[in-house]
Amino acid sequence: MRFGHFDDENREYVISTPKTPYPWINYLGSEEFFGLVSNRAGGYCFFRDAKLRRLTRYRYNNVPTDDGGRYFYVKEGDTVWNPSWGPVKTELDAYECRHGLGYSRITGAKNGLSVSVLFFVPVGKTCEVHAVTLKNESKEKKTFQLFSFIEWCLWNAEDDMTNFQRNYSTGEVEIMGGGQTIYHKTEFKERRNHYAFYHVNSAVSGYDTDRQTFLGLYNGFHEPDVVFSGKSQNSKAAGWSPVASQCLEITLGPGETKELSFVLGYVELDKSQKWESKSVINKKPATELIATLDSKAKVDAELGKLKAYWTNLLSGYSVKSSDDKLDRMVNIWNQYQCMVTFNMSRSASFFESGIGRGMGFRDSNQDLLGFVHLIPERARQRILDIAATQFEDGSAYHQYQPLTKRGNNAIGSGFNDDPLWLILGVAAYIKESGDFSILDEQVAFDNDESKSKSLLEHCKRSFDHVLHNIGPNGLPLIGRADWNDCLNLNCFSETPGESFQTTENREGRTAESIFIAGMFVSIGPMYADMVERKGDKAEAERVRSEVKKMERVVLEKGWDGDWFLRAYDFFGKKVGSKDNKEAKIFIEPQGYCVMAGIGVESGHAKKALDSVKEYLDCPYGIVLNNPAFTEYVIEYGEISTYPAGYKENAGIFCHNNPWIMIAETVIGRPERAWEYYKKICPSYLEDISDLHRTEPYVYAQMIAGKDAVKPGEAKNSWLTGTGSWNFVAISQYLLGIRPEWDGLVVQPCMTKDVAEYKVTRRARGATYEITVKNSGQARPAKLTVGGKAIEGNQVPYAPAGTTVQVLCEV
Ligand code: BGC
Ligand code: NOJ
Repeated sequence: MRFGHFDDENREYVISTPKTPYPWINYLGSEEFFGLVSNRAGGYCFFRDAKLRRLTRYRYNNVPTDDGGRYFYVKEGDTVWNPSWGPVKTELDAYECRHGLGYSRITGAKNGLSVSVLFFVPVGKTCEVHAVTLKNESKEKKTFQLFSFIEWCLWNAEDDMTNFQRNYSTGEVEIMGGGQTIYHKTEFKERRNHYAFYHVNSAVSGYDTDRQTFLGLYNGFHEPDVVFSGKSQNSKAAGWSPVASQCLEITLGPGETKELSFVLGYVELDKSQKWESKSVINKKPATELIATLDSKAKVDAELGKLKAYWTNLLSGYSVKSSDDKLDRMVNIWNQYQCMVTFNMSRSASFFESGIGRGMGFRDSNQDLLGFVHLIPERARQRILDIAATQFEDGSAYHQYQPLTKRGNNAIGSGFNDDPLWLILGVAAYIKESGDFSILDEQVAFDNDESKSKSLLEHCKRSFDHVLHNIGPNGLPLIGRADWNDCLNLNCFSETPGESFQTTENREGRTAESIFIAGMFVSIGPMYADMVERKGDKAEAERVRSEVKKMERVVLEKGWDGDWFLRAYDFFGKKVGSKDNKEAKIFIEPQGYCVMAGIGVESGHAKKALDSVKEYLDCPYGIVLNNPAFTEYVIEYGEISTYPAGYKENAGIFCHNNPWIMIAETVIGRPERAWEYYKKICPSYLEDISDLHRTEPYVYAQMIAGKDAVKPGEAKNSWLTGTGSWNFVAISQYLLGIRPEWDGLVVQPCMTKDVAEYKVTRRARGATYEITVKNSGQARPAKLTVGGKAIEGNQVPYAPAGTTVQVLCEV
């Protein structure tokens, strides 16, 4: 069943009911100021860091679900309603939510009055605009009240939800223009040099800033006293919970329209500029920001800029084929999700509370892969930030806070795959941009500038970290875990609540990962290429010979007969082997080892992928392991804690499905790769939205696997490396266009169902218009560049500003 439709021309998903199977959300903002907004106007916003600089409140896992957001209440006579249906839930005569790129527009209508609210963050500004259009669609004159409402968060979202003994006494506001602008200034008096405000560009009849007054102590958002009584109380918050609500009295003649612009903004001040006078905050920057958005014309112009921003970004890679589900994912939604994951990592979604994980070392490096072609300069800065959280021995903080850019001590390090992802991120950036100068950047270790070394040296330490941590079989030690956070082979936890990620109850140098070995063989050569290009041939040779050695070890010690083993445990026993009782086969090493080219010639690779098909594939995607664990296995850790079919225990953990797609292209099987692509690709799942539950325009981290209670049900949408890896798989390996060091590789491995397609790809300032005539045979491509046939599959990079015509026959 569907709950809306794609509007490709406008790059929107149009939701036709507020009662979607789960709140379907969108993101506002692209650089510093971000918001999440659901199709019921639920959500919140923050500046840079969803934990440390939260502007508005949201309660996760609340009942009713998705309560708290930016609400507009209409009171006409005795009828109170919201254009977003909730929180009041008065049945509407019409409802629509359009989630677009960086904006959402929710429209509701009741009794001939239509109220449409456009939410967006203007490019380069630190605020949200809530542009309200009121239209009297009836034949009568209408007189009604419009109430706005947001609830302030006291900045640190975690503290805000826990430290009530202090927080109930700290809240402070200032009110200007009779409530037209409400300033939230909690803790401004002391160490905070920032405040927030909520403004409307029209006179108001009243306001409220105290939550209890607005709602009533025992009322929810669906029954605010002030709205139902039709009378703002002009309350001034003193402690407790400050909010911002304005009331406007509106009369509209038949057919008449009124436009309002609400601005929810954030201001940072220099310490010396904080005050206008004693206890009065300096409002100049806020007033200036407001002045840029105080009319419909200005708001429209900003929306235009946002749309142009996305048109430009998305023109870097686009496909035209006969399959519109494919085209809309590649051209719009997959790239959009890549931007969101780049910005958010795993911090703030409707499944990630915004206070947990900050930016992940491995996550952010992988998120780069699908983002780097959009804005290479931002990827560059991100790489430098990530690298600065690496330790001198090559290991790394597993996470860091986006606001401070400092490693997160609460989780620390010890995930032995982390270092290698840095090399992959750096290589992706250089291949995209040609900017080898990044390798010379001096980058701190552990954020200590006095310990700076070149980024190339950081990559060396990443590579060597593996070599310094080799186990008894010659394979990389796993540490706390590798990519699979839940395979905790040194954890041995018996204490409820103990973190599987940070606990190592046994000090072991036995548990080894075949997955890291696959990464080493796949990613190591990228470091060799870089260092060679920097003139150090001897180092490149050393690296390549270590990689060769590891490849041999994988085939000798990491092969189980029909597939690659997953690991060796603390006791040196095989993990992911036919000899195991459960979890005989895992997806990750099959993907990464084949991507690395291991066993392609010898036939091991094909065997491994055939085993994936036989044991791991199911109608909804490829599960992580099989059979699922049914008991807690103390020597394996968190993986065996999940009920069968969920998350890392035999869920379809979508992130690694594209590794198998890519692996299938490595051994030249386009139909298999395509089948796997479609199985988890959200646009192909739109018709089963009732089962799938999460948004049909973005990937989810996990779809319940074949052993689950409800196979096919997805969770954890938006913030997942799935977005990035699927874009890599489809754009670089199936459609087959990928940047290499010296040229654009054009080597499709695409289903015969798509017999012809055109890709427009921007790279290093030039544009490539590539027409592919596809037999579906996975043959070496025959390329004609600018009318001339060339050898091989690489189109040399052309000068910036030029357009190159490429014909590819395969
Ligand atoms: C989840 C993982 C996640 C980890 C770290 C686990 O409970 O299953 O997917 O990466 O926690 O937060
Ligand atoms: C989610 C984490 O963010 C990611 O780093 C990890 O690789 C996967 N879970 C798998 O455990």
